[in-house]
Amino acid sequence: MIRYFEDIEIADRNSFHVRQRAARLAEFDRAEELPELFARYTPQEWLALGGGNNILFTRDVEPMLIVPCDKRIEVIESNGDRTLVRAGAGVEWDDLVAWSVERELWGIENLSLIPGKVGAAPVQNIGAYGAEAKDAIVSVELYEPATGEFRTLSAAECHFGYRESIFKHEAKGRVIITSVCFELSHTPAPRLGYGDVMREVEARGGVSLRNIREAICSIRRSKLPDTAVLGNAGSFFKNPIVENCVAKALLAKYPDMPTYPSGHEGMTKLAAGWLIDRAGMKGYREGCVGVHDRQALVLVNLGGATGGEVMELARTVQQRVREAFGIDIDTEVNIL
Ligand code: EPU
Repeated sequence: MIRYFEDIEIADRNSFHVRQRAARLAEFDRAEELPELFARYTPQEWLALGGGNNILFTRDVEPMLIVPCDKRIEVIESNGDRTLVRAGAGVEWDDLVAWSVERELWGIENLSLIPGKVGAAPVQNIGAYGAEAKDAIVSVELYEPATGEFRTLSAAECHFGYRESIFKHEAKGRVIITSVCFELSHTPAPRLGYGDVMREVEARGGVSLRNIREAICSIRRSKLPDTAVLGNAGSFFKNPIVENCVAKALLAKYPDMPTYPSGHEGMTKLAAGWLIDRAGMKGYREGCVGVHDRQALVLVNLGGATGGEVMELARTVQQRVREAFGIDIDTEVNIL
């Protein structure tokens, strides 16, 4: 079914809860309805919107918002060690994780409690606690309005990287993701190497899918604000990837600075949260926006903020980090 709205308030459709309006918005339940939707409403400009968890609206939205609502999770194939699962773009990401953990399927448990919909997961290749969506994604099914074609991209064709994919580049604004296929495993493959994960899992009685999920949920709840209470979009900035020599020079000055392998030769990933924190910005407030007091990578709407105010704070944070460390941090959130 297609549901069509005009001139609607979208504060409850973005996790920052900024009060903007959309000229037109259409929800659809099934991929097969998309040709009809485009024929009936003929949007010149459009934008796919999931749960609005990684987007900051800085103005009212003119392009028609297209919202996938397919909430089906289905097993496509299960043989021996592997189960292939297709999830509709409208499935709540954490519902898929809970579904897989209940069925003893390994692969996405470290991504527990990440807010957002399944359709958005491949766009920024969501990641946390040493895992990324790309580790389990086999293919992405999509519709291309300009050609009227339905297509399936393999994981390799999605060009996944750290918070990166083809959907942020060549395919941006051209396709609507309708469902995502994941390969999950029946064989335990715990990834406990990140931060406090191992300790929290052991405190719950040892390694099991359920304990890993609970541990991760508990770590996230202790650091990251609940979007229902405090508007935010998770990490506002990406962790910067710098040349090894830059990281080395900083380490000589700040030996406790966290560093991570970047996956690229000669490059090191730094922790933007640490840089912002050490630049003295953790808990900083400017009117009704602020830097979260338990995780400096997260900007929060303290109540009634506009997208413009969040952006002003973001610029102040970027400038302070540049002044303190000579490092540029880029936004992770999609700014509109
Ligand atoms: N740190 C500080 N102060 C802070 C925040 C962090 O000193 O205010 C330090 C921490 O102590 C740690 C390091 O910085 O040594 C990294 O912090 P953390 O483990 O919290 O992770 P992160 O790099 O800040 C990334 C993801 C998060 C994900 C966590 C856990 C990005 C942009 N963010 O944050 O993802 O949950 O790792 O894996 O890569 C998101 O994308 O929205 C998100 C929340």
